[in-house]
Amino acid sequence: MEEKLIINGGRKLLGSVQVDTSKNALLPILAACSLCEGEILLRDYVDLTDIIYMREILSLLNIKSALSGKELYIDAKDVQNAKITHELTSGLRASIFILGALLGRFRNAVIARPGGCKIGSRPIDIFLKSFKTLGVRIVDRHGYLYCYGENLHAGEVVLDFPSVGATESLMMCACLLDGVTTLKNVAKEPEIVDLQNFINSMGGRVFGAGTDCIKIFGVRKLHGTQYSVMPDRIVAGTYLIAAATCGGDVLIERAIQQHNESLLSFLKQSACLVNIKNDKIRLRARKRPVSIEKIQTWPYPFFPTDLQPQMMALQSVSKGVCLLQENLFENRFGAAGELNKMGANIVIKDRTALIKGVEKLYGADVFASDLRAGASLLIAGMAAEGYTTVHNLHYIDRGYEKIEEKYRLLGADIVRKI
Ligand code: UD1
Repeated sequence: MEEKLIINGGRKLLGSVQVDTSKNALLPILAACSLCEGEILLRDYVDLTDIIYMREILSLLNIKSALSGKELYIDAKDVQNAKITHELTSGLRASIFILGALLGRFRNAVIARPGGCKIGSRPIDIFLKSFKTLGVRIVDRHGYLYCYGENLHAGEVVLDFPSVGATESLMMCACLLDGVTTLKNVAKEPEIVDLQNFINSMGGRVFGAGTDCIKIFGVRKLHGTQYSVMPDRIVAGTYLIAAATCGGDVLIERAIQQHNESLLSFLKQSACLVNIKNDKIRLRARKRPVSIEKIQTWPYPFFPTDLQPQMMALQSVSKGVCLLQENLFENRFGAAGELNKMGANIVIKDRTALIKGVEKLYGADVFASDLRAGASLLIAGMAAEGYTTVHNLHYIDRGYEKIEEKYRLLGADIVRKI
C-alpha cells in the first residue's frame, strides 16, 4: 500500500531544524569509492532511496557498505568490475555517474542507459562525447553502453554545456589516468567541490572545482579516507521556502549561506527577514510575501532548478505576479496542476509559468509527480487552509529523509499514513 502524508495546514512554522547530508554530493562520492583500494568512512549518512540504489550498485561491484549509526563504512579492497544492469539504472538517473569511475579504474565498463525521467528526457550525449574525446570507444547496443578504454588517455575536454553529472563522472575517470586532464566549461555546483575534496582526501590531485575549469593530475592509486559530506543546499532551501510560504520564525542549522545566495536574495525581496550566523540561517516571515517579478533557473550560482517547484508554491500565495522560467528541464512544472487544485492561479506556456498570487490555498488530494514537485505540494499543504493529502510519497523519500518529522519539529501538523 502506498504511503501518503496528511497535513492539517494553516500553521506558522516555528523552531529549528538541522539540514541533512546532501544527496547530490553523496551520490557521486559513493560512486567515487570504487576508485579507491581501501576502507572509507563517511559521516552523517542520510537514508534516502536514491542512496540505497547507489549502494546496490557498489554491492554489485563487490564493494561492501555497512551502516553504524550515522556512519557508513565502505570496504572497496576487493572491488571488481561488473555489468551495471537495467534494474539498477532505471530507478536512478545518477547511476550513469559511475561510468567515469569504472573507466578510470578498469579501463572498460558496461552500463545500461539510464532511463529518461518525469522532469525531462535527460540525454547523456555530453558524457559520451567527452569520454570519446578521451579515447573511449563506445558501442550503444540494445540499451547498453559498451565502453572500451584501451586507448583512454588524459587530455582536454570542453563540455557543450556545464552538466553536473558529466563534470563529476569525468573527474572520477581522470584522477587515475596517466598525465594531466583539463576539463573546460564544467559545472560549478558546490557538490563538485565536495567531490574534489573527497577525491583529494584519498590522495587524488584535482584542482579548480567551483570554477569553470578543472585540472586533474592523474595518480596511480587512491587510498582509504574518512570524510564528512556537505549539507544539502536544496533541503536547506526547501525549509527556507516553506517558512516564507507558511509564515513564522525558523532557524535552519547546518545551512551554508554561500550555497543559497540566489534564493536568499529572492527571499529578502519577498519581505522575509534573514539573519545569518556561521552555518545557521534564521528566517522570519511576518507579512504576506511579495511576488518576485521574474525567476529563471540556471546552473549554479544562479537559481537552481531543484528549488523551482518549491518556489512555485511560495509565489502562489505571494502578493503580485511572478513569471517563473524553467531553463534546465523541459517537463518540470508537474506541481502546477496540483497547486491549481488547491486554489492557485498558475498558467503554463512552454517553459514559463505565470503565477498570480492568491490570498489563500485550500486543502486537497494532490499527487507528487517527481521529487521536488512533491516538496512543493508539502509546502502548499502546510500553508493551506484545511486538510491536504499528498500522494506518491516515494518520490519525496528519494531526497528528503523522514520529511514529516522535520516539519513537525517546526510545528507542522503532518502525519504519514498507509
Ligand atoms: C544534477 C542533479 C539534479 C539537478 C541537475 C541540475 C545530481 C544527482 N542531480 O543532475 O538534482 O536538477 O544537476 O542542477 O546531482 N544534459 C544534456 N546532455 C548530457 C547531460 C546533461 O543535454 O549528457 C542537459 C540536461 O538535460 C539538463 C542540463 O544538461 O538540461 C543539466 O543537466 P545536468 O547538470 O547534467 O543534471 P544532472 O547531473 O543529471
